[in-house]
Amino acid sequence: MQTEGLSGAPLRWGIAGAGAIARRFCRDVNEHASLGQVVAIAARDQARARAFAEEQGLPLAYDGYQALAASAEVEAVYVAVIHPEHAALIRQMLLAGKHVLVEKPAVTHVADWDALVQLAQVRGLLLMEAMKVMCFPAMRTLLQRLSAMPAPNRLRAAFGSVQARDGKLFDPALAGGAAWDVGVYPLWLYAAICLQRDLPAGEPEVRLVRQTGEVDESVHFAFTGPLAAELDASIVQDLDKAAYLGGEGWALQLVGKWWNPQQVRWLTGDPLPAWPGDIAEPVAGGGMQHEADHFAACVRQGLNDSPWVPQALTRDVLGWVERGLQVGS
Ligand SMILES: NC(=O)c1ccc[n+]([C@@H]2O[C@H](COP(=O)([O-])OP(=O)(O)OC[C@H]3O[C@@H](n4cnc5c(N)ncnc54)[C@H](OP(=O)(O)O)[C@@H]3O)[C@@H](O)[C@H]2O)c1
Repeated sequence: MQTEGLSGAPLRWGIAGAGAIARRFCRDVNEHASLGQVVAIAARDQARARAFAEEQGLPLAYDGYQALAASAEVEAVYVAVIHPEHAALIRQMLLAGKHVLVEKPAVTHVADWDALVQLAQVRGLLLMEAMKVMCFPAMRTLLQRLSAMPAPNRLRAAFGSVQARDGKLFDPALAGGAAWDVGVYPLWLYAAICLQRDLPAGEPEVRLVRQTGEVDESVHFAFTGPLAAELDASIVQDLDKAAYLGGEGWALQLVGKWWNPQQVRWLTGDPLPAWPGDIAEPVAGGGMQHEADHFAACVRQGLNDSPWVPQALTRDVLGWVERGLQVGS
């Protein structure tokens, strides 16, 4: 997608929720983005909003999310609260005429996503999940090159680390658990590769490690079909940080933390002509500026959906998790 030559003022961002990921987004955008700037923060408690604004050098601090929704200074809202609160907040911002970038997982019910996508369409607004991995330059290069390779037929990817037991991730009432927190990342990778190569995605077999009444501590998604995939997530275990993708006569490794992809390496024999050399595309800071710039480019081009983070893929991923948590063994 072209961003060069886009004219107009930088997109004016406001952030809803003054938490951990909000800080990272704010820093990345204001230090590294080309097409936007964070100008406002809103929190449930104004003191938190003020402290955040002061720390990040923002001109506007709002007392509550409705004040942000009503702000004429803000064009787009980054929803950075815990995920059970996403759906109501997205709706509030769309009804106020704001474009919305929402943290992962976008929502926790497919039916909510469908209604919100419909609302965004009717209002002529962009709604996109903040699946930053899809906007890293190395991921864009990889997906582009995949079009010219023999079809991929196997994928292995995981996201897992040991998390503090006393936090939100272990609270079923806050939609904690491995699948919602980090399982969505490998599912997105699988969905994006299937989309790129026009492969049917299918429905995964889901195995959960979950005690009655507790969250899923670990989850395994297995897809059969043209692209076989073994995908894992955990909040109690450190898992392999590299991802592996292969086809007939080729195999690649997404090196390091694959969900922040910056290097992709050829693993077997002589590279095919479609592989002119390993991919090495480092990002500045945490790399969230790339999703923010992609989002801004979509807004400036009048799009209601992103070609890189399509609403239909969000829907697929949400469905796999929602159904998996209902029926998984
Ligand atoms: N893309 C990534 O790399 C990444 C990384 C981590 C997390 N995330 C996602 O980002 C979202 C926020 O995660 P986080 O770690 O930043 O969360 P967090 O710091 O625990 O909380 C974020 C904000 O949510 C609101 N909040 C917290 N607890 C609440 C409660 N019990 N009821 C109502 N609101 C509550 C607060 O907003 P106020 O400030 O207004 O009070 C808080 O500042 C999650 O959906 C998470 O999955 C994404």
